[in-house]
Amino acid sequence: TSKQRLLVVANRLPVSAVRHGEDSWQLEMSVGGLVTALLGVKEFDTRWIGWAGVNVPDEIGQKALAKALDEKRCIPVFLDEEVVHQYYNGYCNNILWPLFHYIGLPQEDRLATTRSFQSQFDAYKKANQLFADVVNEHYEEGDVVWCHDYHLMFLPKCLKERNSKMKVGWFLHTPFPSSEIHRMLPSRLELLRSVLAADLVGFHTYDYARHFVSACTRILGLEGTPEGVEDQGKLTRIAAFPVGIDSERFIKALELPEVQDHMKVLKQRFAGRKVMLGVDRLDMIKGIPQKILAFEKFLEENPNWCNKVVLLQIAVPTRTDVPEYQKLTSQVHEIVGRINGRFGSLTAVPIHHLDRSLDFHELCALYAVTDVALVTSLRDGMNLVSYEYVACQESKKGVLILSEFAGAAQSLGAGAILVNPWNVTEVASSIGYALNMPADEREKRHHHNFKHVISHTAQEWAATFVSELNVTIVEAQLRT
Ligand code: UDP
Ligand code: G6P
Repeated sequence: TSKQRLLVVANRLPVSAVRHGEDSWQLEMSVGGLVTALLGVKEFDTRWIGWAGVNVPDEIGQKALAKALDEKRCIPVFLDEEVVHQYYNGYCNNILWPLFHYIGLPQEDRLATTRSFQSQFDAYKKANQLFADVVNEHYEEGDVVWCHDYHLMFLPKCLKERNSKMKVGWFLHTPFPSSEIHRMLPSRLELLRSVLAADLVGFHTYDYARHFVSACTRILGLEGTPEGVEDQGKLTRIAAFPVGIDSERFIKALELPEVQDHMKVLKQRFAGRKVMLGVDRLDMIKGIPQKILAFEKFLEENPNWCNKVVLLQIAVPTRTDVPEYQKLTSQVHEIVGRINGRFGSLTAVPIHHLDRSLDFHELCALYAVTDVALVTSLRDGMNLVSYEYVACQESKKGVLILSEFAGAAQSLGAGAILVNPWNVTEVASSIGYALNMPADEREKRHHHNFKHVISHTAQEWAATFVSELNVTIVEAQLRT
């Protein structure tokens, strides 16, 4: 039997392109939970449609890039600079992203945002139409078209308007906020209506799905049922599909000589000290300042730990053209500098902060040698870093400190120490508790989470979503 064809449509392709000459491109792995999750999907005949992260104004460049991407089964959507500015930097990452994570609209540019809202929303719709055009070009009858994330809320409508028989699913990788938050969006009606054009709409948690349904009932006045939302006899199925990782990939990587070498180096480097780890895109939702301040408080209250613990914070630069992200970068640098100045010595500092990404093998090694991982997201759709850490801890059985505001708190809550990242006192004392935790408790907690991580994989997530989408369509046909 041939595999089911699947068109994955996401703003971000799994590889991002760097130009080296007129027709020469280098492809690098993209960073982010969406890419990690979708890379774990193997059971389908998959093609990706998305943006390669660069502006390619010339035809020679476009052709060469399309060819390079084709080898990775990727199909590019070309967006010009102005569209990227208004759609990606503007509407997606300066409006939808902060709003969906309960951060609200950026304080200082609130008025500017109000003024440019309409043109940004227009660019958003235009960009979504460009994605739809590429989908239509590559679509074959029977394909499942799976749209992803807040960048593409308009896509289901664009696709269905042109071909009502297309099987269209949409999945959100971020939280969906309370309807009271969604209400603030001037485009609140249009966004909900266009998502509802999909056959199946998925979220990481039951809470996000519930918020979406209540936004539809309160804002659109539609009827919510246990299955989803109904509009004039047409049902849009809505459900929770918690994502996972390809845990095998991490567990196997730990056996590689290269990873073992990295581990050896790290162990030597930090011998005699406990290693605490943070791995985040440098994003305000990750609560990096809160995490570092809690670590400072811990050092303040536990001077005996000062030269016995180190915090490694990997902060991957992200969305660097958006002003809020630039501000965050300097804020974090300032705090790190202050704390290292205060608690450092001539030969050692308590915080190692890196503004860059690591390659997969370095990352696995780091996860494996860590004693305590700190995930302090203020809001986070799921947070796969917490899953990856657990997957790499079979021998060490380290402790996970996890924000209760991450989707992962609902799946790893039993094994992790859950914290409110806003409560610096609580996080500081959790750090102490984690560092002093006896082996049998660590083992029990780890085992709990490990079981979950290896049994709820990305592969299963995708298979469940797609099979639910197929069932939904059969049921809809039976009803008419
Ligand atoms: N990641 C990476 N390189 C790095 C740091 C992180 O590829 O140097 C990956 C990490 O392994 C994880 C993803 O980025 O899979 C982050 O996903 P998560 O769900 O935690 O957060 P998101 O970035 O999607 O908000
Ligand atoms: C989150 C979003 C993804 C996004 C990723 C990285 O995980 O849900 O859609 O790809 O962050 O952000 P970027 O803006 O670089 O794609």
